[in-house]
Amino acid sequence: LERGTAAADLTGLRVVVSAGGTREPLDPVRFLGNRSSGRQGYALARTAAARGAHVTLVTANSGLPDPTGVIVVRVGTTAELRDAMLAATRDPAADAVVMAAAPADFRPVGTSSYKIKKADDGSAPTIVLAQNPDILHELAATRGKPGQVVVGFAAETGDADRSVLELGRAKLARKGCDLLAVNYVGEGGAFEGTENSAVVLGSDGSSTEVPRGSKEKLANVLWDLVLPRIKREG
Ligand code: CTP
Ligand code: CA
Repeated sequence: LERGTAAADLTGLRVVVSAGGTREPLDPVRFLGNRSSGRQGYALARTAAARGAHVTLVTANSGLPDPTGVIVVRVGTTAELRDAMLAATRDPAADAVVMAAAPADFRPVGTSSYKIKKADDGSAPTIVLAQNPDILHELAATRGKPGQVVVGFAAETGDADRSVLELGRAKLARKGCDLLAVNYVGEGGAFEGTENSAVVLGSDGSSTEVPRGSKEKLANVLWDLVLPRIKREG
């Protein structure tokens, strides 16, 4: 870990992290998915455990090895991720939750129980999609306990009308979370790579630039920002 001091500053805290990318089955052999590797979520789980937290990692379709000293829950679909995140953040109530997973936004309306076959006439099937639930929004709207800190991630490119930062601020407000780590896509960041550069936006108006560095470094900056926002009981 890239920390000079091995401060156990998260001791006594329960944190839940999601990682990886969910997959929505089309039939027994095919799915709709995405390229999330799970590395950022695993880095968050590892760093939190190293800093003394009790960590649950809910992981979707990642091939990475289980971090030591972390409870690992495996899920496949966005619906399974939602169920696992609600359970892990409430029972018992977590102090912080970070949605680093990339949930599939859509699922096929129906999953075929047999393998979909090609037609002889060259035609192709039409796949009808439904939108999946927004887990981060739900976690923020229905917190496991008062003062539970809720953190999201967003990979943005900016578009013709709005900058990455404007899109990030709008997403933070829409999600209702406390912190949103916004990755700049297209300058060596995000998916699959081992390095990330980001700005972490806070619902209190704060903004923290994280220069390009390892996913471990971004993870440690995030825990640094989460810690003072946790409202401890008593
Ligand atoms: N997220 C979630 N549930 C979903 C989709 C996204 O909890 N169904 C979470 C992600 O884990 C991430 C944050 O929301 O922490 C932002 O994800 P992103 O894909 O950027 O947001 P979306 O609301 O899906 O918007 P977009 O249309 O830009 O994909
Ligand atoms: Ca999305």
